[in-house]
Amino acid sequence: MIDPKTVKNKALAAWVEKIAALAKPEKVYWCDGSQEEADALFNQMIEKGSCIRLNQEKRPGCYYFRSDPRDVARVESRTFICSKNKADAGPTNNWMDPVEMKEKLNKLFDGCMKGRTMYVIPFSMGPIGGPISQIGVEITDSPYVVVNMRIMARVSPKVLDILGAEGRFIPCLHSVGKPINSPEDDVAWPCDPDNTYITHFPETREIISIGSGYGGNALLGKKCLSLRIASVMGRDEGWMAEHMLILGVTDPSGKKTYVTGAFPSACGKTNFAMLIAPKAMQEKGWHITCVGDDIAWIKPAADGKLYAINPENGFFGVAPGTSEKTNPNAMASCSKNSIFTNVALTDDGDVWWEGMTEEAPKHLIDWHGKDWSPDTATTPAAHPNSRFTAPIANCPCLDENAEKLDGVPISAIVIGGRRPKGIPLVFESFNWTHGVYLGAMMGSERTAAAEGKQGELRSDPMAMLPFAGYNMAEYLGHLVKMGKNLEQTPRFYHVNWFRKDADGHFMWPGFGANARVLAWIVRRQNGEAKAKETAIGSVPNYEDLDWDGMEFSKETFKELMSFDPETVAAQPLKEELYEMLPRSLKVQREALLERLS
Ligand code: GTP
Ligand code: SPV
Ligand code: MN
Repeated sequence: MIDPKTVKNKALAAWVEKIAALAKPEKVYWCDGSQEEADALFNQMIEKGSCIRLNQEKRPGCYYFRSDPRDVARVESRTFICSKNKADAGPTNNWMDPVEMKEKLNKLFDGCMKGRTMYVIPFSMGPIGGPISQIGVEITDSPYVVVNMRIMARVSPKVLDILGAEGRFIPCLHSVGKPINSPEDDVAWPCDPDNTYITHFPETREIISIGSGYGGNALLGKKCLSLRIASVMGRDEGWMAEHMLILGVTDPSGKKTYVTGAFPSACGKTNFAMLIAPKAMQEKGWHITCVGDDIAWIKPAADGKLYAINPENGFFGVAPGTSEKTNPNAMASCSKNSIFTNVALTDDGDVWWEGMTEEAPKHLIDWHGKDWSPDTATTPAAHPNSRFTAPIANCPCLDENAEKLDGVPISAIVIGGRRPKGIPLVFESFNWTHGVYLGAMMGSERTAAAEGKQGELRSDPMAMLPFAGYNMAEYLGHLVKMGKNLEQTPRFYHVNWFRKDADGHFMWPGFGANARVLAWIVRRQNGEAKAKETAIGSVPNYEDLDWDGMEFSKETFKELMSFDPETVAAQPLKEELYEMLPRSLKVQREALLERLS
């Protein structure tokens, strides 16, 4: 615990006092992020019945939570950008007047922490004290949030030292929204779906969230700070906050190339970030390392290159589909000191989810807490958006420069989504602006990471539709601008691991095989690989990919690389948004239509 008397920052002390007076918690506790503190919280939660200690021989330091079934994913319909002017939120964000929203929130926060402890969590996104890093302080009444934030961000008294008496921090206020007025209110996973608001005040750089305890709604350092607020800071200060993984590729010559990748939620960032090259490629000297799996802060440096840091300190990864076969690095990452939410529980106190093993165990407790057996089950044992929270330090392929204060130099930007039809495995942008255009036109099938009908194709520019803290058109214009004045401009590579054949099967094996595409990208950036120009961009010939150790016929490749002119020409953006796009991006579309005709 941090002794509140030692807190020098006046604005912070005043803010905490003000919120305590409003929310009326039983007590206030300042978190120091220590192991002892986390252990004590886990014990309290176990005693209350909201947490289960997993088998400590199989999963040392691991704990298990089941959420309220109504609180399982981000809620975009209740996420608001409260800029002074509606136009600044743009046509794709929910907006409410900041004064009106604050009035509404003030009412909801009045007494909302009754019977609970209010935790104050000082944290740093990015290495503590780094030039690109940002300090935030989250106030929450959820001990689940405290133990998760401790993994996902850097929680430490050192943050307050750096902050000093006058330093600025980003206030992140959170409550599960259901006070304990009587013992019946003291439920395992409190939440208030009817009164959930995830709100952002871009001008004053504030975040206020109430009613949900889940992931991106409640761990406010993640999407709320590191993307929605940070994207506004990036616009104002000349940098980029992106929904991107960061990885390093060592090629056979020993040269290291860093690549970022933007895929929408549950579309493969964590998997790509921890990719293991196929054996035959490893033997030639290819090696892939992970810097981050979800968020990148990217800044131009004096040498004319873009540098990126991963502001996070952990992985909040999709559990289903993760296995020793598909992603052994993720499996190792969550093998200890991790938290599991909404997965299934095995009879020996371990976790299981769909896709972890080929066959499901004969008996499980599912994410609802009910008996589950593969013979009688009608629903999955783990929720499709069940997650592990794992310390990044556990990752076996963690890049040696992952903690570098100034970040790593970025040579290429990969983008893509779930596109069952018409979009090839990979194509390269002609230049930066064309790349941003491809990013603007990105689309993907909806996944379980947010509410809505799964499988439906939706436009998701740069995988930032739910995360841009200001007008999406202006955001895309900012990206165009960021490519100017660089001495080394990364190219964009549009990939699609999710194309399906007539029978509905994935045409590309994905996962490890994606390293073959990545190797081509890296060799292209280094001027070592050939490509053929097409109407949509440059593409590899069959011979340009390394097929060593993999059977994939030239005919299937041809099919996989083909594009449907109508699909690539489609303009998926809301008309209103398209109209607002900078001229430079509209010109890209005109040129594409010209090339296609
Ligand atoms: P968020 O954490 O929500 O931002 O998701 P993410 O982009 O990190 O996605 P993740 O890597 O967790 O993958 C989501 C789902 O897609 C998992 O079920 C994976 O098994 C599956 N997936 C990832 N990569 C591939 C691939 O190359 N091919 C196929 N078919 N599935 C994949
Ligand atoms: C996503 O939905 O993109 C996630 C999970 O990474 S959450 O933290 O809930 O945003
Ligand atoms: Mn994400």
